[in-house]
Amino acid sequence: MKYALLGDIHANYEALTAVVEKAEEIGVDRYICMGDIVGYNADPAECLEFVRRLDPEAVIRGNHDEYASTNNDLMGFNPQAAWAVEWTRENITDDHKAWLKKLPYQAVLNAKVTLVHATLDMPSKWGYIFDKWNAEASFNYQRTPVCFCGHTHVPVAFDKFGGIDTDHYRELVLAPGHKYLINVGSVGQPRDGNPDAALVIYSPEERKVELHRIPYDIAACQEKIRRAGLPERCAVRLAEGR
Ligand SMILES: [Fe+2]
Repeated sequence: MKYALLGDIHANYEALTAVVEKAEEIGVDRYICMGDIVGYNADPAECLEFVRRLDPEAVIRGNHDEYASTNNDLMGFNPQAAWAVEWTRENITDDHKAWLKKLPYQAVLNAKVTLVHATLDMPSKWGYIFDKWNAEASFNYQRTPVCFCGHTHVPVAFDKFGGIDTDHYRELVLAPGHKYLINVGSVGQPRDGNPDAALVIYSPEERKVELHRIPYDIAACQEKIRRAGLPERCAVRLAEGR
């Protein structure tokens, strides 16, 4: 069994289709979507439709999914993110919003793998896991050997018992008896300095997690952002991977 984990797609259709093309080439069996399908970039409706057609094993709710599908106050969002949320509210349908509203904050697959967008200690408060202290708080609520998360757009892995702190990984072989918290990075807005889209492949039988980075047509995505009148910063940051 091979799962493709798609994190923080953020309405970037060019990145999403490039990543799925690679996943198909690798021969994945099922998709898992780690939340934030919408926000920042200009193709929220297209990305929602595309993800739904993938028929994922699980789709987790991200903060942008929540705010774009409700009229919740945007206090706490930075100005560009808030602008993009408001734009997204106008550019997805009521059916998209109803679907987003049903997404769970977390899920457990086969009693073995936990999925959450932000943190397990407060999944609906959208805290960030930047360091081992943040990871420790989440580990306290992790009942499975592996938890995948997203939200920071930075692919890192923590091992509660193995001393891996903020380790940028390419390939992990999961040791029995350990406890892992693995951020899958971002498809549509990477922030680790590498602009290529992130794709994580998880093979439970082989106990393997691989991170692939996929180049895509950034210029086409930027052009759509500018045409939509979304913040210029949203376009610029894609090329910087920040
Ligand atoms: Fe995000």
